[in-house]
Amino acid sequence: MTGLVRQWIAEAKHLVVLTGAGMSAESGVPTFRDAMTGLWSQFSPEELATEQAFRAHPQRVWDWYASRREAVALVGPNAGHIALAEFHSRHPGRLTLITQNVDGLHQRAGSAHTIALHGALGEDRWLDAPLGCCTPDSIEPGRPLRCKVCGNLRRPAVVWFGEHLPAAALEAAEVAVQRCDLMLVVGTSGVVYPAAGLVLSAHQRGARVVVINPEPTDLDRVADACVREPAAVCLPKLLQT
Ligand code: OAD
Repeated sequence: MTGLVRQWIAEAKHLVVLTGAGMSAESGVPTFRDAMTGLWSQFSPEELATEQAFRAHPQRVWDWYASRREAVALVGPNAGHIALAEFHSRHPGRLTLITQNVDGLHQRAGSAHTIALHGALGEDRWLDAPLGCCTPDSIEPGRPLRCKVCGNLRRPAVVWFGEHLPAAALEAAEVAVQRCDLMLVVGTSGVVYPAAGLVLSAHQRGARVVVINPEPTDLDRVADACVREPAAVCLPKLLQT
């Protein structure tokens, strides 16, 4: 199976790779939906990943994201992240990397042009539309940080449930999907939209779809091949060209 996929990669004019939490599992970052270790098996998304939750309990939500940020700072990109970054630099213009991950590990591996659909764990932004007083100089320490003049809070720059994806990132992802002839779908359960819809769209347009995941996923039904291996084992083999 991997021989066939390697051939498809060699033939592809434009390759899109969509990654999810499983991409970073071998770096030590927990996924969301794995039964024992997934974040959403231990924590409630309604209490931690919505704007309402942040407004109701800003310190609790801020602290949870701060702890994830600290955990990610202690780990590094794995062989899969590095294989993607090296492929990109060996084949300029042939690969578009789209991720649902907020951990920044693709970027730390050297994939500077990663399209981050769900934001960045390492960044924050104003909760409410910033007033004139809300400047970098007005930010005072606290959990959360806030504007010392008007009290506007800083919030994690990630996409929460019920929020729109960053428009520019989604548009760039859709443009790449429109022109790809092969899409690798790595380490995602494929249950969160619009990210999962990009895979359906690639399939409908006639692009080949390859799912790389040790477990079955919702997207296997549109896959031309499923490689049941972990990302950090599989990608270095597939992306040797
Ligand atoms: P999930 O936790 O839903 O799915 C992770 C997938 O990774 C599962 O299908 C696992 O089988 C697979 N997996 C585990 N280890 C792997 C490995 N070593 N190699 C390859 N695959 C592996 O995570 P996502 O699909 O990324 O959104 O979740 C999508 C979104 O839901 C996240 O971006 C997040 C979450 O709520 C927001 O926070 C907005």
